[in-house]
Amino acid sequence: MPDTIALESLYERVRPVIPPVEWPVFADDIAAILALKRERDAVILAHNYQTPEIYRCVADITGDSLVLAREAAKTSARMIVLAGVHFMAETAKLLNPDKTVLIPDVRAGCSLAESITAADVRLLRECYPGVPVVTYVNTSAAVKAESDICCTSGNAKRVVESLGVPRVIMLPDEYLARNVAAETDVEIVAWRGHCEVHERFTAAEVETLRAQHPDIVVLAHPECPPDVVAASDFAGSTAAMSQYVATKHPAHVVLLTECSMSDNVALEHPETSFVRPCNLCPHMKRITLCNIRQALETLTHEVTIDPAVAAPARRAVERMLAV
Ligand code: 13P
Ligand code: SF4
Repeated sequence: MPDTIALESLYERVRPVIPPVEWPVFADDIAAILALKRERDAVILAHNYQTPEIYRCVADITGDSLVLAREAAKTSARMIVLAGVHFMAETAKLLNPDKTVLIPDVRAGCSLAESITAADVRLLRECYPGVPVVTYVNTSAAVKAESDICCTSGNAKRVVESLGVPRVIMLPDEYLARNVAAETDVEIVAWRGHCEVHERFTAAEVETLRAQHPDIVVLAHPECPPDVVAASDFAGSTAAMSQYVATKHPAHVVLLTECSMSDNVALEHPETSFVRPCNLCPHMKRITLCNIRQALETLTHEVTIDPAVAAPARRAVERMLAV
């Protein structure tokens, strides 16, 4: 167990967003998780939307979907706990078939992953014979298995253009597809899936923000509707937004994305002030210190993938990682 001094130094990492009165509620779980990680030879991969007590106090690797996929492929630990949503845990399992991959709450889904099935992809292929299918990682392994290649919001344009064809099917996020289409000559056939968090941002909201804060820099996730992206100063994956703040040091910024993202970036950049009209992802918020601890104590919930699905799904993910 870490001693009181070690826990105190962890508290310094989150002090600006966690009041002292709340820290004892987290400290016990944090100490237990750190000990369990050593005992189990486990690493915790945490997405940028995880709350700061997870992101800054127990995670070993943090990042966007692309970073988590890349790091999952590299880890030498015996066990991976995915502090994120189910498709991220499946991707980690695809890349580590011999390791134990745990998701602390199996209900941590995603509206994009729910928007399309493997049968839908087969139907699309019938409608567009010979057109390659580029699948956003925010999908089930079964949908990935029907795809030629995967992409994330961090590499979508690069992946689409890497195929060297005039037309691709890009699914399931309609807005990501339309935002990529605006930046490439490749024709894109889209599906009608949406992220329930990012579809709620509007261009009118951006206009109001600019009226209220004339110096504001607006960063949007490419899952936002195209008119929101067009009204913003920059659009990119969660890692790209973070990188923007780290390199450009805007005095005043808004991140049009999930709420915890601003907390995590703000903790690293106290010189920047954040306006926060964020939207919560209810799926990401199912992951807590308490269920991470439980996952490590009881080795639940283990992610398994039918081998017949895993092989083609892995090919699509590995093809993306090679781009
Ligand atoms: P990133 O890959 O940009 O982290 O996005 C993942 C996601 O689920 C955004 O809603
Ligand atoms: Fe899915 Fe949207 Fe939540 Fe990301 S923020 S996990 S895309 S529902």
